[in-house]
Amino acid sequence: MHIHQLEKQWAAIALMIAGLFVVVILSSALFHGIHAPSNVEAIDSAKLHLSAEFAEDKLGVQEHPDGSITVRMVAGRYGFYPKDLVLPSETNITFRWVSLDVIHGVHIPMTNMSTMIVPGYVAQVKTLLHHTGDYPLLCNEYCGMGHAHMWSNIKVVGKAQWEALNKQGGVNHG
Ligand code: CUA
Repeated sequence: MHIHQLEKQWAAIALMIAGLFVVVILSSALFHGIHAPSNVEAIDSAKLHLSAEFAEDKLGVQEHPDGSITVRMVAGRYGFYPKDLVLPSETNITFRWVSLDVIHGVHIPMTNMSTMIVPGYVAQVKTLLHHTGDYPLLCNEYCGMGHAHMWSNIKVVGKAQWEALNKQGGVNHG
């Protein structure tokens, strides 16, 4: 069977592009901490208010004895709750997300905090916020008429400033 020279060249280019994508995926996973969400943890989205972890008074920031932080948040049409959060920079943070209605997405630009929030499951993302400042928290999964207005803010401050705020109860605790 004869294969035209041009055909071979295009096949080689297509293979190289596919190879390049594999390299990009591997390097983002191995060196940039970007992973497809793999946390499979079921939860009853209709009973979040009764759950041990996502009842209203449990939401927000929880600091652990080793200094790491867990942030529990609920996404629902059309907002992320609690509304205002202050987080420390350069600290191991585990975000745990649940939805109370439909599929939402959440993304903090310029960080690896990006995941879908599927009702019935807990979405978990570990991150380290390197820069202080105000970050938008955006819904990036179409969820209804108010989707474009579904966003809030996270304020990232230095660790020392955060500790001081934390003592005054100003970081939105559960
Ligand atoms: Cu929530 Cu779009």
